[in-house]
Amino acid sequence: MAAADGTRERGQGDPPREDLQTFHAGDGGPTPENDRITSLGPGATGAGSYDVFDGVAAEYARHRPGIPAEAVRILTGAIEAVTRPMVLDLGTGTGQVPLALLAALPRIAHVDLVDVSKPMLRQAAAALRPVLGRSTAGLFFGEADAFVPSAPGRRPDLITCCRAFHWMNRPAVLAMADRVAAPHATVAIMNDGSLWTHESDWTAALRELIQGFLGPVRRAGTRGAFQVPSRRYEEDLAESAFSDVTEHRIPVDRVWAPDDVIGYLRTTSFARPDLFAGRRAEFESQARALLAAHADGGVLHEEALFTVLLARRPHTSS
Ligand SMILES: C[S@@+](CC[C@H](N)C(=O)[O-])C[C@H]1O[C@@H](n2cnc3c(N)ncnc32)[C@H](O)[C@@H]1O
Repeated sequence: MAAADGTRERGQGDPPREDLQTFHAGDGGPTPENDRITSLGPGATGAGSYDVFDGVAAEYARHRPGIPAEAVRILTGAIEAVTRPMVLDLGTGTGQVPLALLAALPRIAHVDLVDVSKPMLRQAAAALRPVLGRSTAGLFFGEADAFVPSAPGRRPDLITCCRAFHWMNRPAVLAMADRVAAPHATVAIMNDGSLWTHESDWTAALRELIQGFLGPVRRAGTRGAFQVPSRRYEEDLAESAFSDVTEHRIPVDRVWAPDDVIGYLRTTSFARPDLFAGRRAEFESQARALLAAHADGGVLHEEALFTVLLARRPHTSS
């Protein structure tokens, strides 16, 4: 979702922050013995989560596209020289990135997952638990820039952020990355646009339908409108410690069933159910008719572009 999913309305420092537990495969879920509850972060209230994605974690896991195999290959290539790599995934959502990485590289020693949504973290934990093998994982509930490793030796070799960087205080996140990452670490920022930004007949018609219900301005956050990020991620990286940047562009042909498009829309900040109030059923019925009219052989195609920015500290690049 390059610059695609909305803007934040909250000020920095106001969210509740809380570390949840770390867990191993076979733990059978958190217990007082295997929970590692650490202290609340600065300004924390200990209150529940509040994020715009909170209500959609299960649908998100079902309907959001995964990570292309070529992107996974690029990420694992960045840590191929590390015997037991540590990974940190920022804005992990339902854990798509760690799931793909653990499947491709079981020798990963530890993954830390960061999100401002507790339901998303729970969803990610449930998905990861059966595939952890010898790896361990840690959940950090809070803003990405507030992340602190749960143990001193846990310096990530790879920091990933997929479809989430635009939600964050990007300079602060990159400063945090510089504080916590191993000297040779790679930061990978990934995006792939959304059905709002995709240019095709059916996505344009869908966008017009949404605008007919919600008005011309693209919605984002809990109340606001989408704002294009003021500068490109490359510029954020150029001003950070990770200024040596390589871009990879991966074309992806996605095939959508109309039901999956409807499910996907429910997880977006521009067409999530509560925006339609009492007219949600009416919207979904019109969207279904529109999708059926545009479908070819029962499916719709999206020619997406998945981009991976790999950033390193200049002196560590080969
Ligand atoms: C569009 S989802 C992407 C999830 C996942 N990375 C993926 O590609 O499927 C964005 C995620 O970022 C989280 N998020 C938003 N702002 C954040 C912040 N400042 N710090 C940590 N996570 C954040 C949201 O709660 C949400 O789970």
